[in-house]
Amino acid sequence: MILGEYPQVAVVGTGYVGTVVAAGLAATGQPVVGLETDRYKLAYLRSGKVPFYEPQLQDLLATGLDLGRLSFTDDFVHAMARSDVVFLCVGTPEGNGGHPDTRAVEAAARAVCKAGHTGQVIVTKSTVPVGTGHLLASIMEEHGFPPAVVSNPEFLREGSAVDDFLHPNRIVLGSDNDVALRKVLEVYSPILRGDTSADASRRPPALVTTDLVTAETIKYASNAFLATKISFINEIASICEQLGADVSSVATAVGLDSRIGPDFLEAGIGWGGSCFGKDLTALVTLAAQHFYDAPLLRATIEVNRRQRSLPIDRLQRALHDVNGRRVAMLGLSFKPETDDIRDSPAVELAARLADLGAHVTAYDPMVKSLPGRHSVTIAPGPYDAADGAHAVVIATQWPEFLSLDLALLRERMLGNLLVDGRNMFDPQTVAEAGLVYESVGRSPSLNQHGNALRQPPAMPVATANNIDPLPAFKLAFDGLGA
Ligand code: UDX
Repeated sequence: MILGEYPQVAVVGTGYVGTVVAAGLAATGQPVVGLETDRYKLAYLRSGKVPFYEPQLQDLLATGLDLGRLSFTDDFVHAMARSDVVFLCVGTPEGNGGHPDTRAVEAAARAVCKAGHTGQVIVTKSTVPVGTGHLLASIMEEHGFPPAVVSNPEFLREGSAVDDFLHPNRIVLGSDNDVALRKVLEVYSPILRGDTSADASRRPPALVTTDLVTAETIKYASNAFLATKISFINEIASICEQLGADVSSVATAVGLDSRIGPDFLEAGIGWGGSCFGKDLTALVTLAAQHFYDAPLLRATIEVNRRQRSLPIDRLQRALHDVNGRRVAMLGLSFKPETDDIRDSPAVELAARLADLGAHVTAYDPMVKSLPGRHSVTIAPGPYDAADGAHAVVIATQWPEFLSLDLALLRERMLGNLLVDGRNMFDPQTVAEAGLVYESVGRSPSLNQHGNALRQPPAMPVATANNIDPLPAFKLAFDGLGA
């Protein structure tokens, strides 16, 4: 790609989303300037380092800098002078009453306008409340510029954000200004053509173009559905425990239905992260502001709240009281392959256990400190965390935990309770290591002594003359001359 062949791109805000967007677009051959006002982060990025953990991002950033396609600055005027398309990737944290705080987005839009407008298109990339695009358009008009705003919601998952950006399954662009939408379409043309995919068999992304409000709504609907799917399987897990069913088998079989699909059907201690909780709350709040009560979305939030208490309930039941007990936590990040602890179920659990008087020691492959949580001790390894523990809780499903020597873990512990909040282990394997196993919606037949925790409900006794086999079975049965 010849530099300058495409619109110049500016990316305002270089957090989890902005840095991926800046390095990702530079990787497609376009000149990109990242705007960062935090001088430490700016220095870090300019030196070719990413100030957080995201697989592949470090290499992508270094390549963009080395090829001269990517630069970082805190000088808005300089950046705007070279940019036609400006992606706003600044945070929209949860504000009062559940409505996201859009002050940073509004301030960024004003800064773009004040820096000297040269026909820029403003693109909202971070999740913004529905209606923000219209608000930014009015800010542009306040400064005497034609409104040119495009909503381009991100669907990046932490831990796979680079792949999600370069190989999305869809790109959504929403605008009330066709010229602006076409400019952003040009920026995405390499990705839409599939140029970023080394695997020719990989289908190029679908393109969805719509209006501003619809594009903003698509983002919320996507996250709300994903969170609801997880709360659904967690609710089924709770029912499985009462019925003596195994939720992992239920999820596998349900997920085989092509209308449902296998993803996001892993039962556990609930969803976390900087998006689901914030976005669901924002959607429910927005609906309420328009006099609509959203019972399904409220239930998604409620089920998740309950799910996070599950390990505490199990520990209280098995240990009778956690006060004074030593509990080892394996996993602190909100999911594997990230160091992000925002709204992490694991961190919430560690804090609640400490508040109940437990002595909590935690190990996480990436999270090495918990600012402000002095009551939680950080261990250098999983066995160190388990030393003298009455119980071990698996809170984040880091793949390395699968290779734990459970017999050694048992030896290091004082007690023998393993609460597997992410259903990582096979109950039989755990029992063979001499551990008492608690998990989520599974193997109700195995408890601390390997015998039935709860007898499944008595089924009517089938006798030859009171069960009429299905006709086909009967024919075959008879045919066998049995
Ligand atoms: C999510 C959306 O997936 C992404 O499209 C959006 O852009 C941002 O929010 P992310 O927050 O990075 O991405 O994490 P995700 O992989 O979706 O997991 C969210 C939470 O759900 C994690 O706590 C994870 O442990 C949990 N989860 C996920 C489950 O409990 N069960 C599952 O089956 C899947």
